[in-house]
Amino acid sequence: MLPSVMEYRRQAQKRLPRLAFDYLEGGAEDGLALARNRAAYADLEFRPDVLVDVTDCRLDATVLGASAAMPAIVGPTGLNGLFWPEADVHLARAAHQAGLPFVLSTASTSLLEDVRAATPGELWLQLYVQRDRRIAEHLMDRAWQNGYTVLFLTVDVPVHGNRDHDKRNGFSLPLRPSRRLLMDLAAHPGWCWRMLRHGGPQLKNLAVSANARENITEQASVLSRQMDLALSWNDVAWLRRHWRGRIVIKGIQGLADARRAHAHGVDGIVLSNHGGRQLESAPCPLEVLPEVAAELGQSLEILVDGGVRRGSDIAKAVALGARAVLLGRAPLYGLAGRGPAGAHEVLAILRTELGNTLRLLGRDRIGAVDATAVRKR
Ligand code: FNR
Repeated sequence: MLPSVMEYRRQAQKRLPRLAFDYLEGGAEDGLALARNRAAYADLEFRPDVLVDVTDCRLDATVLGASAAMPAIVGPTGLNGLFWPEADVHLARAAHQAGLPFVLSTASTSLLEDVRAATPGELWLQLYVQRDRRIAEHLMDRAWQNGYTVLFLTVDVPVHGNRDHDKRNGFSLPLRPSRRLLMDLAAHPGWCWRMLRHGGPQLKNLAVSANARENITEQASVLSRQMDLALSWNDVAWLRRHWRGRIVIKGIQGLADARRAHAHGVDGIVLSNHGGRQLESAPCPLEVLPEVAAELGQSLEILVDGGVRRGSDIAKAVALGARAVLLGRAPLYGLAGRGPAGAHEVLAILRTELGNTLRLLGRDRIGAVDATAVRKR
């Protein structure tokens, strides 16, 4: 076990070819939104109370009707098979072992049925809506039948963000086997071997891209091309007709849209700029959180993501009014850096760090972490 999430990141960087690591790590354009996500946590300082009995320190929370061992969820990430074969299965298992819900991406590289078969854990579905609505309807049907209970509609990807690194690395159509790419792959034989042995990652849940011969970049591009640009607030009613469980809108970036989400009767929102991967200079979710929580915290479950790398980050998000955080890159660092055990270890590290943070803060339960626990530096 390595000491911190960021050390798993370093390990992932060594193990993955540049093409894959940049895809995992990179932000849009100049990386301003990406950097702000981390900086916002650094800008907060704790206000500890001392001499509080913290013998028992309870981290558990209820999130969207499910109990979680701490206020965190393993969030949806697409193309995970690029980091480890059957990555979604391993992530879902790691989440279950850690007592956390797992959100499977529409762009997952494992069949949602296989993920279900691999774990009895709490599984939720993230939805991207393609122009052909039957794809989403079919996906929702299958997910519901397989016991996925909450739907996350991601709304910040009408098109892919501008990602220079993907262009530079040839991570776009067509995938040209450049000298640079071949050298990159040659320097990572372990990764190449794993990918070859398992047939490489495929977007298995989308009928439109089930062709096993398509390479991963073509599949990503298919996904983007098919995205329904006409998707609007009116479609929440369409979702309701096809989904009986809770609905969460992921990718809300300000109070006005948070109000609209509430007016449309959804159960929760994720304040998110997609980990800084979509709109450059997007608002930083942690900074938007306090005003949204102040107005809507009693009516909606407000989740937040972007930049969570420490247990103390989770405490800060909760202090500002989040019900829970979504973990994006952190578990992927674990998986890419040290395989399935690494994903498990990263979640264990975050939990240990969160527990120690609470004790040092003089709070004996997560519910006691409120606005009095932090201040802006
Ligand atoms: C993502 N994210 C994402 N979100 C989503 O709704 N569907 C998806 O398929 C993906 N795919 C994806 C791939 C990769 C490699 C990353 C890093 C992220 C966004 C993700 O759910 C989350 O919003 C961010 O990752 C949160 O930021 P951090 O924790 O990665 O900093």
